[in-house]
Amino acid sequence: MKVRLDGRTAVITGGSKGLGLAMATRFAASGADVAILARRPDALAEARAAIAATASGRVEAVSCDVSKADDVGRAFAAVMARLGRIDIVVNNAGTARTLPFEEVTDAIWQEDLDLKLFAAIRLTRLAWPQMKARGWGRVINVLNIGAKSPRAGSAPTTISRAAGMALTKVLAGEGAPHGILVNALLVGLIVTEQVRKWHGLRGGDRSLEAFIAETGKPVPLGRMGTAEEFANVACFLASDAAGYVTGTAINVDGGSSPVV
Ligand SMILES: NC(=O)c1ccc[n+]([C@@H]2O[C@H](COP(=O)([O-])OP(=O)(O)OC[C@H]3O[C@@H](n4cnc5c(N)ncnc54)[C@H](OP(=O)(O)O)[C@@H]3O)[C@@H](O)[C@H]2O)c1
Repeated sequence: MKVRLDGRTAVITGGSKGLGLAMATRFAASGADVAILARRPDALAEARAAIAATASGRVEAVSCDVSKADDVGRAFAAVMARLGRIDIVVNNAGTARTLPFEEVTDAIWQEDLDLKLFAAIRLTRLAWPQMKARGWGRVINVLNIGAKSPRAGSAPTTISRAAGMALTKVLAGEGAPHGILVNALLVGLIVTEQVRKWHGLRGGDRSLEAFIAETGKPVPLGRMGTAEEFANVACFLASDAAGYVTGTAINVDGGSSPVV
């Protein structure tokens, strides 16, 4: 089976680090033109250079806070000006935010929904008409496994993620007649910048390697995943090889989710 993206153009939010960077690298090495969106210009420039080292197509980086509607509009226009089209949208930018319900203020709810739900709605809505016109498109929403099994203390993140799963299903239904396939990837524990931050916060005197190994032990596969393993699944979904897969949410979690 060939998993290639030649002739396609992908936009990946949160593409300067972690899963987004791994997906951008994999997509670009598989033949796609790629645009990465994130806030920090220095990290974007570094990521762009790293992706370009193995890319066969063009690589663009656009600074953008995806939680802001105006920024998303500006970034979309910049990508269109530089790459001319968008076939694949990966809504990936985000952070984990979990608090006891009583501590989640309206402002926190709004910030989380802006970053995780409205960012996906806005960028997808902008790219949708051209995908529809060409009869081919892919939307991949990166969520977490709490979207299917929210637990106590996991607001606001799992609520925003569950809404992302509902958005995935609605878009899959509306996109299907136009060749636009829409799926979600539900992340478990994967080694990225986020995990390095957790190590800083609660790693104690353990080394990063020891922290990663211990955190991964309860996962059925016995370890945390790698960003490259995640990117492989995303690349498959973005390709023609996944032509009969839409409206689904795939756990990429080493078996951690209590539900299928
Ligand atoms: N790694 C895990 O185990 C795990 C688990 C569950 C869910 N996830 C989800 O998977 C996605 C990727 O996570 P990751 O681990 O790869 O995170 P990461 O390594 O921290 O990278 C996050 C990326 O998103 C960008 N970003 C954050 N806020 C943004 C904003 N407002 N506008 C634009 N870009 C923004 C960051 O760049 P800037 O900071 O420069 O903007 C960075 O490029 C996230 O949605 C995360 O919540 C990850």
